Amino acid sequence: MNSPAIERILIPESEIRRRVAEIGRLVSEDYRGRDLVLVGALKGAFVFLADLARAVAIPHEVDFVRASSYGNASSSSGTVRVACDVSLDLKDKHVLLVEDIYDTGCTMATLLERLAAKGPASLEICALLVKNRPREAEVAIRYAGFQIENVFVVGYGLDFAERFRHLPYVAVVSRNSARTA
Ligand code: IMP
Ligand code: MG
Repeated sequence: MNSPAIERILIPESEIRRRVAEIGRLVSEDYRGRDLVLVGALKGAFVFLADLARAVAIPHEVDFVRASSYGNASSSSGTVRVACDVSLDLKDKHVLLVEDIYDTGCTMATLLERLAAKGPASLEICALLVKNRPREAEVAIRYAGFQIENVFVVGYGLDFAERFRHLPYVAVVSRNSARTA
């Protein structure tokens, strides 16, 4: 009913819920006793961050950065712009960058560089999805939710031309139908 552009559900809501709870437990153990800041990359990570923050059982702060690399297309433009920076002081904090998807790696590399310059005590990445594809920039993912094939996906925060972010699951959009959606 959502749209003919949705081809199939790749990761159902129940599986996402289970995995986010697991990651939340891992983060809670790994960062116990430390000043943890979850930094969500807007817009794509807003749903994941909201669920992850509630699955992390230790005190922590939340902030956001905003980068854009895709514009309104389903292929990377190759350039990444940091449109909005964090507002918290990250000096000596343990920062976990929360991303929707590790695709070409350009966005994460840019955001890592920006966050590293703020002098955090540590800086790691948590990505809901890791796409199986060649990278333009390699980064180390400390917590990876799901490995997925090299297809364009939407839902659970991810969009195609700003659509489908609200879907509670991750789904595949066919590029042909996506173009006409
Ligand atoms: P990268 O810089 O190529 O790694 O792209 C990162 C950003 O592109 C992600 O944070 C997403 O917002 C977007 N992106 C990459 N792959 C997809 C996808 O399959 N669906 C929706 N957005 C995507
Ligand atoms: Mg996007």
